[in-house]
Amino acid sequence: MAEELSNKAVPKHIAIIMDGNGRWAKKRGLPRTAGHKAGGKTVEKICEEAYRAGVEYVTLYAFSTENWSRPKEEVDMLMDLLRNYLSDSLNNAKKNNMRVRVIGDRSKLDPDIIKKIEETEEASKDYTGLRLQIAINYGGKDEITRAMKKIAEEVREGKIDPADIDQDVIEAHLDTAGLPAPDLLIRTSGEQRLSNFLLWQTAYSEFYFPDTLWPDFSKKDLLEAIDYYNTRDRRYGGVR
Ligand code: FPP
Repeated sequence: MAEELSNKAVPKHIAIIMDGNGRWAKKRGLPRTAGHKAGGKTVEKICEEAYRAGVEYVTLYAFSTENWSRPKEEVDMLMDLLRNYLSDSLNNAKKNNMRVRVIGDRSKLDPDIIKKIEETEEASKDYTGLRLQIAINYGGKDEITRAMKKIAEEVREGKIDPADIDQDVIEAHLDTAGLPAPDLLIRTSGEQRLSNFLLWQTAYSEFYFPDTLWPDFSKKDLLEAIDYYNTRDRRYGGVR
């Protein structure tokens, strides 16, 4: 664990909205796609640093259900980035002992991407290092809707009694089933919105909104986020 963290509470699970790629590129006179590419490099660096700091789970918002409405060229480029990342992640996951899981509605993705996701999840399922969740074609409302459909189906099949539906049952049908809720949510670039990310899971998370654009997000920014988390009084049960 890094020296500067030795007396600190490290969030077990950090969720990140990686915002500001477009502005990072614009500031440099580059196409938006260059910003996403640079953002992809930051992903690798921050996952390594987070694990080194003692974080156990990282969940990244890579592509939302709303992102399909971006220009086709940008959507295609983001899908290519994810394709490449998933191809590399077979090696990366092994190198970093990282367990990768994709959340979101993968049924709408290209078949080759679905295959890569399945391969990566299968190949990394017994790794014991960082647990990395990548949200692709993910929306919190969509996730909850899909969970409700699964529950309704199980009610119809007689597997669940409606009287037994409680928060645990709902959580077990979300894409994040089995994962702890995020302790800290970071959104870079100064925007202060949840944008349909982990709506259910962030009910009690701390929120941190640094001005840094995602491609510039560094180890220092990550440690500042953990510092911020340490300034919060994490009380449970009351009004927070
Ligand atoms: C938001 O910035 C960012 C995205 C919509 C894409 C995030 C994706 C990556 C960082 C690519 C790689 C991901 C992985 C897991 C390899 P924006 O384009 O909305 O920025 P702007 O608000 O400045 O325009």
